[in-house]
Amino acid sequence: MKTLAVDIGGSGVKALLLDEKGEPLGERDRIKTPKPATPEAVMAVLQQLASNQNEFDRVSVGFPGVIRKGVVYTAVNLHPDWVEYDLAGRFSEMVSRPVRVANDADLQGMGAVAGNGVELVMTLGTGIGGALFTEGQIVPNLELGHFRFRKGETYEEQLGRAALKKVGRKTWNNRLTKAINSLSRLFNYDHLYIGGGEVKQIEVELPENVVVVSNVLGLLGGINLWK
Ligand code: BGC
Repeated sequence: MKTLAVDIGGSGVKALLLDEKGEPLGERDRIKTPKPATPEAVMAVLQQLASNQNEFDRVSVGFPGVIRKGVVYTAVNLHPDWVEYDLAGRFSEMVSRPVRVANDADLQGMGAVAGNGVELVMTLGTGIGGALFTEGQIVPNLELGHFRFRKGETYEEQLGRAALKKVGRKTWNNRLTKAINSLSRLFNYDHLYIGGGEVKQIEVELPENVVVVSNVLGLLGGINLWK
């Protein structure tokens, strides 16, 4: 049973084939996210990634927005046409295999957490994602990025890729420290995992219970949708 794990991001759409246990088979494939990232344009990329790897039996997708039962409800960093798009249904018709979809940070979190106590996940990419777990059970679609953080701005407005480009690495790192302090007081987590494409920009020392995790977990976490 082979799973094609897909991660739809604001800058790239990635795919990796996983074996029964969720171990990678082969190399990660990546295609730039089309602009504008309409459903039609992104579906064409998914078609391409799927045909590059024809040997899969089922598909897991991480999507940067709120997902309920395979349907998209928000897609702030892609395109408004995604709202109410049946991504699982349409992708499944396209590849004639079962497809399961979850929020990208939720999937990344499923790949990262240990299953003990309260575990929070934050992803740093184009957008800011969040996932909350207690004893390994997820509270889906946390949407941390769109919560008010400081100076009248959200976590995403202060820490997303656009902010990083605008204010530079040093200020962004200071903001990250403040974000960790604020999240720690809000969630009282046992562990915080930080993932996403921009973890490479982190240069501040992190508290003992905060761990940086690999961005590949956004793909590896996909196996959990079939457990
Ligand atoms: C979206 C989230 C997503 C995050 C990271 C945010 O803008 O609203 O659903 O998890 O970006 O991609």
